[in-house]
Amino acid sequence: MLYNPTPDSLFAPKSTVDPVGFSKVAIVTGCASGIGLAVTQLLLAHQFEVCGLDIAEFDYNLVRVSDHGRFHFTRVDLTAPGACEEGVRICVAAFGSRIDVLVNVAGLMDNFSSADGVTDDVWDRVLAVNLTVPVKMMRSVIPYMQAKKDGVIINVASTAATSGAVAGIAYTSSKHGLLGATKNVAWRFRNDGIRCNAVLPGAIDSSIGQAIAKGPVALDSAAFAEVEPVHALQPKASETTPTITPLEVAKTITFLISDQARTINGASLPVDKGWGVI
Ligand SMILES: NC(=O)c1ccc[n+]([C@@H]2O[C@H](COP(=O)([O-])OP(=O)(O)OC[C@H]3O[C@@H](n4cnc5c(N)ncnc54)[C@H](O)[C@@H]3O)[C@@H](O)[C@H]2O)c1
Repeated sequence: MLYNPTPDSLFAPKSTVDPVGFSKVAIVTGCASGIGLAVTQLLLAHQFEVCGLDIAEFDYNLVRVSDHGRFHFTRVDLTAPGACEEGVRICVAAFGSRIDVLVNVAGLMDNFSSADGVTDDVWDRVLAVNLTVPVKMMRSVIPYMQAKKDGVIINVASTAATSGAVAGIAYTSSKHGLLGATKNVAWRFRNDGIRCNAVLPGAIDSSIGQAIAKGPVALDSAAFAEVEPVHALQPKASETTPTITPLEVAKTITFLISDQARTINGASLPVDKGWGVI
């Protein structure tokens, strides 16, 4: 099986975390489930003020009551005209004109279709959510980061950002593109105190897998048959490394945000138990 869906749950750190986000503001797209939810929960645990954006409704039961005052959610389709800019404006209205962190998590899987069968709808939608939205979000926050010569951007890409053998053409192209955008921003704004890095998760537990199973676009089974053997290799990549969960990805993102990673810029960090080296 490709994905091993588990219900999203309330994240409460077992022991006290050493907070890295006091008085800092982070914007997280795709905050309502999966990796975006885990990032939101972990950044709140690290005392960030978090502005969450998602097309889906947010379940406030998934954020600790004591964190509610530092969390502001806006339901928005980020592909709508002006939506990214509006999301950033709402964050500024909620927490002031300081934006320290942007985590671009919102994303859509494709139906594994290839160049011979991808529909306009799948191509346009996947590229819009996975590539155009992160670029527009970066465009919207960079002036705030330039103003204080400090900022961190994390783009959630995928193993499909470097491999052609794990997803369909739309998803693969969108994530390869996101990696290019990450590197371009990293270089262009390095003298503005802005760091921009990507994480490349392997297949993890999240609702994105359920979304593939449910449709609305049918899985391209012939194309999927070509990538399935590659997916089957992920569990074999390491038997001793813990399962990749949204929280594991969120921990890596928090590391990249923190000062521990202050000389890391333009990197693509796999979170895949070694799957990507195959
Ligand atoms: N699940 C995996 O195995 C996996 C592997 C590698 C990379 N990723 C990437 O991680 C990211 C998060 O995926 P996930 O697994 O947590 O999936 P998920 O479906 O749980 O979360 C994605 C979130 O993005 C939101 N979203 C989608 N379209 C949107 C739009 N137009 N506007 C605003 N929000 C929108 C969804 O509502 C959802 O809450 C994606 O970019 C995905 O490509 C996932």
